[in-house]
Amino acid sequence: MANNLLTISADGRPVYLHEDLTVLCQAFDWAAYSRCFVLVDTHTATHCYPFLREILPADHQLISVQAGELHKTLDTCQYIWQRLTAAKADRRALLLNLGGGVLGDMGGFCAATYKRGIAFVQMPTTLLSQVDASVGGKLGIDFDGLKNHIGLFAHPEAVLVSPLFLKTLPANELRSGFAEIIKHCLIADAAAWERLQAHTELGTLPWMELIAHSVRIKAEVVAQDPREQGLRKILNFGHTIGHALETQALHSPQPLLHGEAVAIGMWAEGFVSKQRGLLSEEAFGQVDQALRCWYPSQQLSEEGIRQALPLMLHDKKNSRQTIMATLLDGIGKAIYDQPLTIEEAQQALEAYVALGK
Ligand SMILES: NC(=O)c1ccc[n+]([C@@H]2O[C@H](COP(=O)([O-])OP(=O)(O)OC[C@H]3O[C@@H](n4cnc5c(N)ncnc54)[C@H](O)[C@@H]3O)[C@@H](O)[C@H]2O)c1
Ligand SMILES: [Zn+2]
Repeated sequence: MANNLLTISADGRPVYLHEDLTVLCQAFDWAAYSRCFVLVDTHTATHCYPFLREILPADHQLISVQAGELHKTLDTCQYIWQRLTAAKADRRALLLNLGGGVLGDMGGFCAATYKRGIAFVQMPTTLLSQVDASVGGKLGIDFDGLKNHIGLFAHPEAVLVSPLFLKTLPANELRSGFAEIIKHCLIADAAAWERLQAHTELGTLPWMELIAHSVRIKAEVVAQDPREQGLRKILNFGHTIGHALETQALHSPQPLLHGEAVAIGMWAEGFVSKQRGLLSEEAFGQVDQALRCWYPSQQLSEEGIRQALPLMLHDKKNSRQTIMATLLDGIGKAIYDQPLTIEEAQQALEAYVALGK
């Protein structure tokens, strides 16, 4: 192991972790490819690419697209495919996706379909993409207003992770990604949850350790159930109610970031777990305290809740009109495919709103 480079296997491919980008890039054999294309968005072009420009193969070529979920579309893919075609990228070309989950999902999708598939590397630059989106092989784009509607499963040659990029990430994006770290502890590692509770400031968190821990948990779960037929659903803790809130808030004056919505979803699904006797009062008390410490000002109106709940029925993960949720069976253990009624979800969210009164 050169220079304490950390390597975790995910989807049979290496995830390399190191703060130093030179060490990180040395772990990958760039020379094995005919040409390297680097996909950036308007933000990662400014904040991330300058650190890599001199490290990457000298003849690499940049492809830049607009930032944000609104651009995770077929139009942007068409532009990326056109740029690859114009540059005569052959089947041995490599696409390096330098960005958050939007670029990773979309760039991976473009690579996996260009000339029936060229190699790609994920270099995630948001916390959310480092601990979640870049592992597990799900790629795709939004279509006709539906999130991740068109896509496929395919695996990168490698994932290169440096917490260095988090320094320029807006604080709300950092906090949003942190919700997935909390989730991984709650569903799979009670001891890590204990350790996490010692922290109360985002600025002083041991990112390398936390990211490596989350990547290991996600990789282990995905290895056991790559196509989400069973166990992988534990990763949806907080997401049944969270997704509905996120979708509802999309059109409100105060949209919620994904992790902010998931944090409320975890509170509510934790509450349901307590009501069902799966989670003790004491354990739920810990969840409540931590989530309200990290996510103190989430305003939910009663009107918003009423509008959000029916949206749970449209969740891709439900089978036949029954809402299926993942609940906590004690801290560090999750159970999936638990039928959840709208009334239970409503009661949980009303309890959440009552906290703020
Ligand atoms: N494939 C999966 O398994 C999976 C899992 C979770 C989420 N996702 C997808 O991930 C996407 C969300 O990802 P995200 O939260 O990373 O959003 P994102 O990619 O839109 O990034 C958030 C914002 O931060 C900017 N940014 C990125 N890195 C930066 C940096 N280092 N410094 C400053 N700004 C930076 C981006 O340009 C963007 O404006 C969604 O489309 C979601 O569907 C996929
Ligand atoms: Zn999520």
